[in-house]
Amino acid sequence: MNDKERIEELRRLLHEHNRRYYIQNDPIISDQEFDALMNELQTLEQRHPELYDANSPTQRVGSDLNGNFEQVEHKYPMLSLSNTYNEHDVASWYDSVKRGLKGETFEICCEIKFDGLSISLIYVDGRLIRGVTRGDGIHGDDVTANVRTIRSIPLVLQPGGDYPKEFEIRGEVLMPWSVFERLNLEREKAEEPLFANPRNAASGTLKSLSSKLVASRNLDSYLYYLLGDDVPCDGHYENMQKAAEWGFKISDAMRKVGSLSEIFDYIRYWDVERKNLPVATDGIVLKVNSLRQQRILGYTAKSPRWAIAYKFKAERACTKLTDIKYQVGRTGQITPVACLDEVQISGTSVRRATLNNEDFMKKMDLHIGDYVYVEKGGEIIPKIVGVAYDKRDDNIKPATFITHCPECGSELVRYEGEAAYYCPNDSGCPPQIKGRIEHFIARKAMNIDSIGPETVDEYYRRGLISNFADLYEIKIEDINGDGNRERSARKVLNGINASKTVPFERVVFALGIRFVGETSAKLIARHFKNMDALMEATEEELKDVDGIGDVIARSVVDYFASEKNRMIVERLKKYGLQMSVVSSSEDNGSDKLAGMNIVISGVFANHTRDEYKAMIEKHGGKNVSSISSKTTFVLAGEKMGPSKLQKAESLGVKIVDEDTFLKMLM
Ligand code: IVH
Repeated sequence: MNDKERIEELRRLLHEHNRRYYIQNDPIISDQEFDALMNELQTLEQRHPELYDANSPTQRVGSDLNGNFEQVEHKYPMLSLSNTYNEHDVASWYDSVKRGLKGETFEICCEIKFDGLSISLIYVDGRLIRGVTRGDGIHGDDVTANVRTIRSIPLVLQPGGDYPKEFEIRGEVLMPWSVFERLNLEREKAEEPLFANPRNAASGTLKSLSSKLVASRNLDSYLYYLLGDDVPCDGHYENMQKAAEWGFKISDAMRKVGSLSEIFDYIRYWDVERKNLPVATDGIVLKVNSLRQQRILGYTAKSPRWAIAYKFKAERACTKLTDIKYQVGRTGQITPVACLDEVQISGTSVRRATLNNEDFMKKMDLHIGDYVYVEKGGEIIPKIVGVAYDKRDDNIKPATFITHCPECGSELVRYEGEAAYYCPNDSGCPPQIKGRIEHFIARKAMNIDSIGPETVDEYYRRGLISNFADLYEIKIEDINGDGNRERSARKVLNGINASKTVPFERVVFALGIRFVGETSAKLIARHFKNMDALMEATEEELKDVDGIGDVIARSVVDYFASEKNRMIVERLKKYGLQMSVVSSSEDNGSDKLAGMNIVISGVFANHTRDEYKAMIEKHGGKNVSSISSKTTFVLAGEKMGPSKLQKAESLGVKIVDEDTFLKMLM
C-alpha cells in the first residue's frame, strides 16, 4: 500500500472510530490505539502536503486564529418556532393542524427542544462543506472552521450511504453541563466573567476566532431537521433515522405519536426526565411528521404552522432576602449578592442569588427582609425575578447600594457608561492585591502551580508580597521552616523560577490588564512583539490590531500610563521573564524557498495574505499570481477558489496548507 492509499485508509478508519466514540457511544478501540492511528496519519499528511483535506480527521484540532467570519445567505431561511407554555395552547395548535389537513390522519413527531444555538450544515457528496450560524435567519456567519472541531459532527459521511448528493441538515450546537461547569470553575479561578448558562457558553465558543479554542471546549451537537431537493423519505422521523445511519447524532428521544393524549404523556415524561440529560433543554418540539402535510400547512411570516414549541416552566420558589453582601473582585469591581433563607429549587438548595448591579436592585425596589421569587432556569446561578410586595413588612427599608468598599473602606466610583461600581484603591485593597497575584500565577497565565490562593494569602499577610513582582524576590529563608518545610519551600521557588520561561503572550495576559483576556493578550503580544513596544503603543495603534476594539485599547493605554504598573513591569524584566515573542524562523530570512514560484489562494488562519507574501520573499521564494506549469506549489487557505483548485489539479501542481508551509520554514 502506498502512502496515498494508507492516508485514505487511515482517514476512513479514524472517521469511523470517531463516529463510534462520539455518536454511538460504542468505541471498539482504546484511546491509545486511536492516538496511534492519528499520529500515523499526521506524519503521513506532513510528508504529503499535496494530499491536504480540510475534512481530514486531523483537522479536528483547529487553528489559532481564523479570519473574521464571512456572512453567507441561507438557502432556506432559518425560521424559529412559535412558543406555547401550557397544554391548552398545545391542544389549540393540534386542532389547527387537524383543520388545516381537512380530516386527513396525521402523525406528530415529538422531540426534545435543545437549548444551544442552531447551526446549518451543508454536505456535498457526503462531505461537510459549510457550517453557518442562524444569524438573522436570512444570513448567518460562516463558522465552518469551528464546526469542523466538533467531534459529533461528521466531516465525511458513512461511505456508500444513500444520502442525497447535496443536502442541508440543521441542529443545535451544545455545551454539555459537565463541560460548562468545568469551564466556569476555571474562569472563576482566573477571575474571568462566568457564562450564565451553557447556551451562552456554546454560542461564545462557536463564534470564537480561534478554532483551537473551540476544539478544546468539547462542544456537542444534535441534528433535527433535514432539507434538500431530494431527501429520502416523506416522513421527518424516517429522514432523521436515515441521517443517524449516515453518521449524524440524532436524539433517541424522538417519538412518533398519533394523538393529543400521547403528546401530553411525552411532555410530562420529559419535563421530569430532562433533568437527567447531559445537555440543557428548554422544552419540547412538536412537528407534523409528513413533509407533504407540512407543505399543505405552510408557514406564517415567522414560523412554520406545522411545528410548535412547548416551553418548560423554569422552577421558581419564594423565600426571604435576609441580606446583601458585596464581593470585591481582582479589578475592584463590586458584585452584590443576595443572601436568602435556604430554599429548594430543582433538587438543589439555594442560599444565594445574583443581583447584577445597583440599577437592578433599584428597579426591583428591593428591601432587606422582602420575600422574593427566585428562579433557576437555564442559568446555573439562581436569579431574583420578582418581589412579593404584598408580603412586605411595613417597617423594612429599601436596600441601598454601599458607598464604600467593604474590604478597605475607600469610596466607590462608578465610571461613565458602566453599570458596576469599583473600588479605586487598587494598590491598597486586599482582595484586589491578592486577586491580581492569583491571576498572575493561574494556569493560563504564569502557571506557578507550586502556590495556591492560601499561600498567596499567607505571604500577603506576612508582608512578603504585595504585588506579583515581589514573588521573584522571595528567598528560601523567607519561607523556610523546619525539616519538611524546606522541601516545600524549594518547590515554591522552583515553580516561581520556572515561570521565567513562560512565553511573552502569557506574560501579557498575566499582568491582569482589565478586559485583556487570553485571546486579546495573544493578539497584542504578537502584534507589538515586545514589551517596550507594547508599553509605548498608542490607543490608535492598538485599535489597528485585528480583533482589538476601543475598550481594550483604552484599558491597555491606561494600564501603562500608571507609573506603578510600569515599575512592576520593569522589575519583571529585570528578573528575566520573557519580554518578547520568540522569533520564529519566519522573521529571519533563509533560502528555503529559493527558486520556487508560489501562488497564494484562500483565507488563512495564522497570518494574513500579506504576511505570507512577505515570508515567501524573505525565504527566497517568488510570489506569482496565477497558476501555471511553472508554479511550484499553491499555498492554500480555506475557501480556495474552485477554478484555481481545478487548474492546480489538472497541472499537477501541489497544494500546501498553511501549517505545512510554516513547518517548511522551521
Ligand atoms: S426545528 C422550522 N427541532 O429552537 C423549524 N428546533 O425556536 C426549525 N431547537 O431555532 C427548528 N431543539 O435552535 C427544531 N428538536 C428541535 C429543536 C429546535 C431546539 C431550537 C432551534 C430553533 C429554535 C426554534
